[in-house]
Amino acid sequence: MPTNGPQIAIPVPARNAQFPWDEFAAVDYCDHNYQQLRDDDGEILELVAGWFAQETGERSAGDAIDVGAGPNLYPSLAMLPHSRTVTLLEHSASNVEFLRAHTAELPERWEPFWDVVSPFARYGDFAKARALLAERVQVMQGSVFELPRSRWDLGTMFFVAESISQDPAEFESAVGRFVRALRPGSPFAAAFMEQSDGYDVAGVRFPATPVGRQEVRACLSAVSTDLRVERIEMRPAPLRPGYTGMIVAVGRAQ
Ligand SMILES: C[S@@+](CC[C@H](N)C(=O)[O-])C[C@H]1O[C@@H](n2cnc3c(N)ncnc32)[C@H](O)[C@@H]1O
Repeated sequence: MPTNGPQIAIPVPARNAQFPWDEFAAVDYCDHNYQQLRDDDGEILELVAGWFAQETGERSAGDAIDVGAGPNLYPSLAMLPHSRTVTLLEHSASNVEFLRAHTAELPERWEPFWDVVSPFARYGDFAKARALLAERVQVMQGSVFELPRSRWDLGTMFFVAESISQDPAEFESAVGRFVRALRPGSPFAAAFMEQSDGYDVAGVRFPATPVGRQEVRACLSAVSTDLRVERIEMRPAPLRPGYTGMIVAVGRAQ
């Protein structure tokens, strides 16, 4: 029955497809976030590299994927010692171009990151990591929402599911798609900005779904086993306004 009362506007969360991903300024983002190894990223990397070393010890190397790799190469470095191939999946054309250039010859800035991974894997110096990454990497343009099932043996997804949409349903879908893209039993690591309200990259605003440990645990426990979810304090100072910390989760695909 029609009503004549006042109309209340309900805000609609903006979805992934509404943002200009091809305008993502890869160099600015990389310089802002990964110019130096921050203590919080170092803590995440140590935890993740340790998890992969522990979980892949007896297995032969498999195919790894980093979903929404963007201009961050440290998740790839954590998987590199345990991988036959490393697929970097990215939606944005500018990030794809950045990744192709930077994996052909890994820049020196990633050396402190490799120094965190290397002791776990006893895999040699930075020159070795640079050569192996160039040999094993495959950069692929695509979307987390279109990942095939049960295709990879090892996976990472850092600051993606909560940082590509304002819609909680898309956050959950991205997490589910990522873990289901791995073969059952495969180890994974995922990182999240805690309670993020969005972020600017070179003046362009990108979205976020605010999540905490509870939301991360709830959607990952539906698709994984051996789940561990840790909160990471921001150190030294916040990277930007509008978030309260970081969350890292490790586990195995169900
Ligand atoms: C906040 S950035 C995180 C980048 C990087 N993983 C990191 O750790 O800094 C979010 C990334 O998700 C990518 N992205 C956006 N929509 C996507 C989609 N549908 N599928 C895969 N990646 C997407 C963006 O291009 C961007 O690289």
